Amino acid sequence: AGAGEVSAPNRNGGRNSTRRKVGIIGAGSVGATIAYAAMIRGVARHISLFDIAKSKVDAEVLDLNHGLLFAPQAMVDGSDDVEVLRDCDVVVMTAGAKQKPGETRMDLAAANANLCKKILPDVVRVAPDAMLLLVTNPVDVITDLAIKITGFEWNRVIGSGTVLDSSRFRYLVAKHCGVAVQNVHAYIAGEHGDTEIPLWSSATIGSIPLNQWAVQGHGRLAAKDKDEIVRNVKEAAYQVIQGKGATNYAVGLAVTNILESILYDESRVLAVSGRLQGFRGMEDVCLSVPRIVSCRGIEPPLPIPMTVDEETGLQASAERIRSVVHELGF
Ligand code: 2OP
Repeated sequence: AGAGEVSAPNRNGGRNSTRRKVGIIGAGSVGATIAYAAMIRGVARHISLFDIAKSKVDAEVLDLNHGLLFAPQAMVDGSDDVEVLRDCDVVVMTAGAKQKPGETRMDLAAANANLCKKILPDVVRVAPDAMLLLVTNPVDVITDLAIKITGFEWNRVIGSGTVLDSSRFRYLVAKHCGVAVQNVHAYIAGEHGDTEIPLWSSATIGSIPLNQWAVQGHGRLAAKDKDEIVRNVKEAAYQVIQGKGATNYAVGLAVTNILESILYDESRVLAVSGRLQGFRGMEDVCLSVPRIVSCRGIEPPLPIPMTVDEETGLQASAERIRSVVHELGF
């Protein structure tokens, strides 16, 4: 850095900066919907899509550009050349095989690991200072691989993790209790997938611990209601995929929420996936636990209280993720 320049790259452009460039790898339904949500929310001044399918990426870019009149000022471009991602502040990885009805997220591990091996070195070359936000499934495995492939510091390699599952969880609790989803605070932790763990013991509605929730006309959560909600959270993606082939809207908004916390430096508490280094005995594995997310990336997990069952469940989830990473030879 020259005289008068700050030595560390300042990724926090603030809301008025013209420097907020978000790159999206993959112009499929998830990538395009993230671009759409990010555009409407005005989180980036420049959104760049990269996809090897040129006609698809060109068409998505054209369609998004035709709506710019109705959104906060931004520029949207795209290419089948990775150069389009040059100097991005955040690169969002969405490319990859997606689940077919009946498949689990873990079934995609080998195919999507290979794709990351191909694409991520190019991302390092064109956007060496970027924050990486992984969305491709199995996202916890992919986040781990991304750290190993890129050599980036753990704090700037982030998986979208269970932000989406936590949103599904909060929606279902809110609906059951007849309260606004924003006033339910509850997290799903662990794998973004079949071994995920609901953190019931720390959940609250308007500061009242959920376990004590008993408000006239606003339901109670009996054990069977809780089981039903958790089953619905875990089956949510399967249900949507069965009906329309993919999930896209909720993930688009969830990822935009993470982008806002990074690019506006808001320090939101989000259940994103990231490397654990000695959290409740867990080491060298990526999974979701509530963390603070800012322009510096992710912080270590918050010391959220857990019951023994929750902690045991989280450790089993960590084991599952770690074993898939090892099977892939990483
Ligand atoms: C989802 O949960 C499929 O991981 C994707 O919507």
